[in-house]
Amino acid sequence: MNTTLMLQGMTWNAMQYDNNFAYVSAYGRGVVDLLAPRAGERVLDLGCGTGDLAAEIAAGGARVHGVDGDAEMIRTAVAKHGQAEGAPTFAVADGHALRVDEPFDAVFSNAALHWMTRPDEVVAGVYAALRPGGRFVAEFGARGNVAALIDGLRTAAAEVAPGVPVELPWYFPSTAEYATRLENAGFEVHTVHWFARPTPLSPGDTAADWWRMFGPSVLAPFPDETRAAVLARTDELLRERLADAEGQWFADYARLRFTAVRPQPGGSDGR
Ligand code: BEZ
Repeated sequence: MNTTLMLQGMTWNAMQYDNNFAYVSAYGRGVVDLLAPRAGERVLDLGCGTGDLAAEIAAGGARVHGVDGDAEMIRTAVAKHGQAEGAPTFAVADGHALRVDEPFDAVFSNAALHWMTRPDEVVAGVYAALRPGGRFVAEFGARGNVAALIDGLRTAAAEVAPGVPVELPWYFPSTAEYATRLENAGFEVHTVHWFARPTPLSPGDTAADWWRMFGPSVLAPFPDETRAAVLARTDELLRERLADAEGQWFADYARLRFTAVRPQPGGSDGR
């Protein structure tokens, strides 16, 4: 398989991601059910992270290739899942510039598309990577995703470190916007829906931990001496909104989940 090798600007702590944010894959199981992979199918997992869902899809007999923009994620995916019989293959690739030698039956993606901020390039690449009749099944952050987490950080930053910009590296579209992008690229959109999914963080973790894990580029402009104070104030501001009486914190996730099909040339799209 010919994938364009290009690292995105962000490096993850893959071990911390696996230890503290395993819920990302756990919630993705619903998307695997929607994909309904069949034995022998070729499936591309776009933004596969440490490969847990790719391995789960492969365990059902599909031939899976996982790609991710982060080299550490891919190294971890290979170490965890790359050895077994029928295991997925993995490669570093930029989702904005997908290139494949042989078309896939399905492209799957969980909790990754919001990191790809030029969606038309992504959707066009996925379309080109599918055979006619192939499907694109995915879930990612929708309009309104992590709105409270963002609001808390912005408010804390304005109080503690006025003038430091809070720039977000994510794309959270509405259902209508994303469906239009899919259709403009040539897809038939079969299902698309928005839902709120408040998601418990690991016990003991707070909003500050979420920001440290997922927002290093957002936190980078804060001088070292103010970053901790901004995060502490973020927790103070958000405790009532995002933590329950037992001290369990939640991320205010909102998801966009869809199935789209690359039509057959004759017009039948496999519905
Ligand atoms: C999400 O899964 O919605 C998400 C995760 C990290 C950063 C932003 C959004």
